[in-house]
Amino acid sequence: MPQSPLQLSKLASRTKDQPISLFMKMAIETPGLISLAAGLVDEPSLPVAEIRETFDGLFANPPAARAALQYGTTEGYLPLRQKLLERYAAEDGLSPDSLPFSVDDVLITNGSQQLLYIVSEALLDPGDIVITEAPSYFVFHSVLTSHGAEVLGVPMDDHGMRTDLLETMLLRLEQTGKLDRVKLLYTVDYFQNPSGLSLAPERRRHLLELARRFSKKHRILILEDAAYRDLRYDGADVRSIKCLDTTNSSVVYTSTFSKPCSPGVRVGFGILPHDLMIPAHRIKGNHDFGSANLNQHLAYQMLQSGRYDSHLKDLRAAYVAKRDAMLESLQAAFREWPGVKWAKPAGGMYCWLRFPADVQTGPDSPLMKEALREGVLYVPGQFCHVADMTGKLATNEIRLCFGVATVDQIREGVRRLAKAAKRLTSLQGPVEDREAVVA
Ligand SMILES: Cc1ncc(COP(=O)(O)O)c(C=O)c1O
Repeated sequence: MPQSPLQLSKLASRTKDQPISLFMKMAIETPGLISLAAGLVDEPSLPVAEIRETFDGLFANPPAARAALQYGTTEGYLPLRQKLLERYAAEDGLSPDSLPFSVDDVLITNGSQQLLYIVSEALLDPGDIVITEAPSYFVFHSVLTSHGAEVLGVPMDDHGMRTDLLETMLLRLEQTGKLDRVKLLYTVDYFQNPSGLSLAPERRRHLLELARRFSKKHRILILEDAAYRDLRYDGADVRSIKCLDTTNSSVVYTSTFSKPCSPGVRVGFGILPHDLMIPAHRIKGNHDFGSANLNQHLAYQMLQSGRYDSHLKDLRAAYVAKRDAMLESLQAAFREWPGVKWAKPAGGMYCWLRFPADVQTGPDSPLMKEALREGVLYVPGQFCHVADMTGKLATNEIRLCFGVATVDQIREGVRRLAKAAKRLTSLQGPVEDREAVVA
């Protein structure tokens, strides 16, 4: 009997494949291909011994082990939430007692990705507007699109999102009667995926001021995604936007164990304004009524025992070596091409390259074809952008990740990329003929 077609929900119909999936598949299936594309973490430093010791300790105590093997609560393991709150306060130089929120506003999730999803589900209806940095974390763009949201991008410079341009955008939205649709301002404000850049302290204040000033008929929230905060290699930590939100009303803060500890454990969390925590908790209840309890106990014990912090020290050293290898290789490979620009990331896992405007980097571009022929893979920058208000999409950038490739692979991968780029005529010819680009 012929089958009737499925009638998918509107949400499922709006949900598209991640463009990056094809690239990840290609990286896994092509022997010899060096992937500087995948945002996977450094393998040799994954904390195998620390996690084994932690589990040994946990399973040496059968009642504690049984508690960890049982279902937990929707909001998550209380000692972990308390610990995260203490750590968050310490990072921002505050005492836990002085915070304008409590452990009741901390939600444990399956990675920070689930927190991003839950916040979207709690706030967004089709036609709502979310403003992000341009470029931005493309997986979140897909979440937003599947909820029917319109995504607008605000350009960045070396100090992060241009909040002056955000202000202009908000004014324009107000003049055109669209301010009522703006729900969220999303920032990855520490060593951003994909640019590696961070939001400067004065812009953090400006961002919060804008969120408040333009909150008219409803509150516009800032979603502060601090996924890479612990992966700092240079300079002192910068205080969060959340700590400026002294009434706990405007900022959702999220971070994760994935990048600084283990993505296989997949524990993330959010600190939410109380009136958002209530619906978020209900939605989390519908998703799974609580993240894997065992993993939460593991995360707590890693923090409590100090193993997390000692691991972090080793991990930072591994990433500094990789970051520096990538920067040195880029410098050596693109020395003769001042039109190719990048900034030094002070943390995280990514380096963002901008080519002259006439060099296309997209999935079907000559550069991609040459790069694949040479055996190196990058993420086309256009995956991280949405078209601007005039319909234009930046197509001359690439994201390189120094997370999972070894130092030797990073050096060889960048050499291959430069070789591929050299074959493109648009990068040849006298320097003065090429457009100077400010990264
Ligand atoms: C900026 C950013 N936010 C959130 C996530 C989600 O990470 P996880 O769900 O593993 O915590 C990622 C993963 O790459 C990311 O880059």
